[in-house]
Amino acid sequence: MSVRVGVLGAGQAGGRQAHGFALHPEVRIVGVGDLDPARAAALAERHGARAVADHDALLGLGVDVLVVATPHALHVAPALAAAERGVHVMMEKPIATTLRDAHTIVDACGEAGVWLATSFVHRFREESVRAAGWLADAGAVHLARETVNGQVTPAHPRWLGDARLAGGGVLMYTAIHGVDRLRWLLRDEVVEVDAGSCQFEPEAEVESGVAALLRFAGGAIATLSASAPRYRPEPTLWETEVFTERAMVRLRTREFAECGSDAGRERYETASDPATADPYYNFARQAADLVDAINERRAPAVDGVAGIRALEVCLAIYRSAAERRPVAIAEIAAARGEGGATR
Ligand SMILES: NC(=O)c1ccc[n+]([C@@H]2O[C@H](COP(=O)([O-])OP(=O)(O)OC[C@H]3O[C@@H](n4cnc5c(N)ncnc54)[C@H](O)[C@@H]3O)[C@@H](O)[C@H]2O)c1
Repeated sequence: MSVRVGVLGAGQAGGRQAHGFALHPEVRIVGVGDLDPARAAALAERHGARAVADHDALLGLGVDVLVVATPHALHVAPALAAAERGVHVMMEKPIATTLRDAHTIVDACGEAGVWLATSFVHRFREESVRAAGWLADAGAVHLARETVNGQVTPAHPRWLGDARLAGGGVLMYTAIHGVDRLRWLLRDEVVEVDAGSCQFEPEAEVESGVAALLRFAGGAIATLSASAPRYRPEPTLWETEVFTERAMVRLRTREFAECGSDAGRERYETASDPATADPYYNFARQAADLVDAINERRAPAVDGVAGIRALEVCLAIYRSAAERRPVAIAEIAAARGEGGATR
């Protein structure tokens, strides 16, 4: 089967998504949509596709999959338009900035019978896959630590500093991957958070640092710390460490995964694995999963509900930081009917 893909948003993520889909032998990138004509044209030209201005024009080209890679508050309209036309959706994270929008997207795709994938693309990194494999056989998790050391420099999109469009700072743009990674690796749901946030620049509208304690349903506890200063905090570090009944599993993004226990030590290094040579091989794997899901009539590996769960945790962290108290996820989930946005 040939799969026609349209990419909305020709920025950093749109470019990686297009690259990942284009590596699939059954996929054709047929269109690129962006409000900025020069950006749309440049990415479209790279893939022999048509450049258009918006999601309606993109869907009008007749696509099977719409990639939504626009600023966070602008995910809902293209997703609903895609569902209405029976088009599957590859949604960049966060799925939305409010729970109301997130549920609207998931419900619309479900009712239309189209697949909705949330782009938690870290799950497709080989070091993540190795860590998940060890953890599946390591017994109950007691403790985990997620450290996300990012940066927001002048080279990053300006809308990241706009609270309305971004819905938050380092947590919504970057560390939400860490939230998803913990849920996925621990195979458990966060039930309560106790968090604080900070701004490295006093005039900023959104947070540049977060520290949170996450409590999981099964009893595990985890810390999440994230930072995104304007200077380059080289070398950056993105690491997850998990202690279970029988083993310690650690993964460092783009570098390694390792497992230590009484049975010995195992280590995987990305540098010696040719499968990770393409810088965006994880986007290619994620794209292939959605194509397989369509062909096999099964849900994608990371669905829209995963997008909702991660957003709930982020919104709980924001409320906890604002009100200086622990916040249950159930409290956040219940706020959905009141309009979603809890910030
Ligand atoms: N999965 C990842 O690793 C990853 C990495 C970066 C960004 N992202 C996500 O991708 C999304 C986009 O982020 P980015 O960093 O690529 O931003 P970006 O600013 O680089 O790109 C967004 C593009 O969308 C265009 N745009 C804005 N509104 C539009 C509209 N209504 N219709 C059409 N085009 C519109 C802008 O002109 C811009 O070119 C966000 O959800 C972000 O969190 C994901």
